[in-house]
Amino acid sequence: PTRKKIGLIGAGNIGGELARLCANRELGDVYLFDIAAKENFAKGKALDLEQNGSILGYDSNIRGTSNWADLEGADVLIITAGIPRKPGQSRDDLVATNLPIIRDVANNAKKHCPNAFVIVISNPLDAMVYEYMRVTGCPKGKVAGMAGVLDSARFQLFLAREAGVSVKDVRAMVLGGHGDDMVPVLSMTTINGVPATQFIAKDKIQSIIERTRKGGGEIVTLMGTSAYYAPASAAVAMAEAYLLDQKRLLACAAYLDGEYGYKDLFMGVPCIVGGNGVEKIVEIPLTEEEKGMLAKSAASVQGIVDVVKKS
Ligand code: APR
Repeated sequence: PTRKKIGLIGAGNIGGELARLCANRELGDVYLFDIAAKENFAKGKALDLEQNGSILGYDSNIRGTSNWADLEGADVLIITAGIPRKPGQSRDDLVATNLPIIRDVANNAKKHCPNAFVIVISNPLDAMVYEYMRVTGCPKGKVAGMAGVLDSARFQLFLAREAGVSVKDVRAMVLGGHGDDMVPVLSMTTINGVPATQFIAKDKIQSIIERTRKGGGEIVTLMGTSAYYAPASAAVAMAEAYLLDQKRLLACAAYLDGEYGYKDLFMGVPCIVGGNGVEKIVEIPLTEEEKGMLAKSAASVQGIVDVVKKS
């Protein structure tokens, strides 16, 4: 078989949108996995999406399953297993529920999909991806967390609307942990190379940064559950970079082994993503203020990781 095999662990809101995007782009055959109690739900969603292919014109097979054996040899795994936030909750509030879930997923993935490139979306993101690597012992380049692409997308949208320019021309990167201390790198934020500060006043940029930091929560408050369209698109950009060896420069939660001065921690940093996974962490110059914000963000990630290590 020459088709790639994509395992989506969690067939909920993000899982369904992930399946739709992967099939639409014909990235491979899709296995939509959920727990036994939701196997029929996964199978139904898969069938609906497969039928969608005869209208939209894609040939990807989409299967629903609760049997890890079906995921044997997957090329890519995207993990959304767990519960999402409810209004008033922080991502960190999910740790008690989602920790046993990521451990279950990691143990099975280690057994059935040892060579997959793994993208974790479950929250609290930076701690969940850390735990995935700790349990599986997989190489550091084969696992990354999805947060930076999404947080950057939110930042870019708000900047584009404020500046009155196309969102296509806004370049920005949000680094650090996927929490309220995330770090939008203003020194690298441009409208197609032109510093964003030329279009938007500093105080307005500051309020956009605040909105970006709480961007996930804004949607949770409105919808009662967490976002899923943009999170799925962000993870698919990462999966596609791997499957098509695109060597994209994307902000991903990657394992730090001294980069930016941090060790044994996952956090959002600029990464080259290609056929070997996270191929390189790119160290960009940060201002003193940005370094300070990154340190604060790293400390809050470390706090959750410490909780995870003790549990
Ligand atoms: N293995 C596989 N799937 C599981 C497991 C498990 N051990 N435990 C739970 N799940 C499934 C649930 O049954 C559910 O169908 O994960 C799915 C999650 O789907 P949703 O509840 O719709 O949540 P979603 O919005 O997709 O978010 C998933 O991503 O962004 C994060 O904070 C979010 O942690 C949450 C995750």
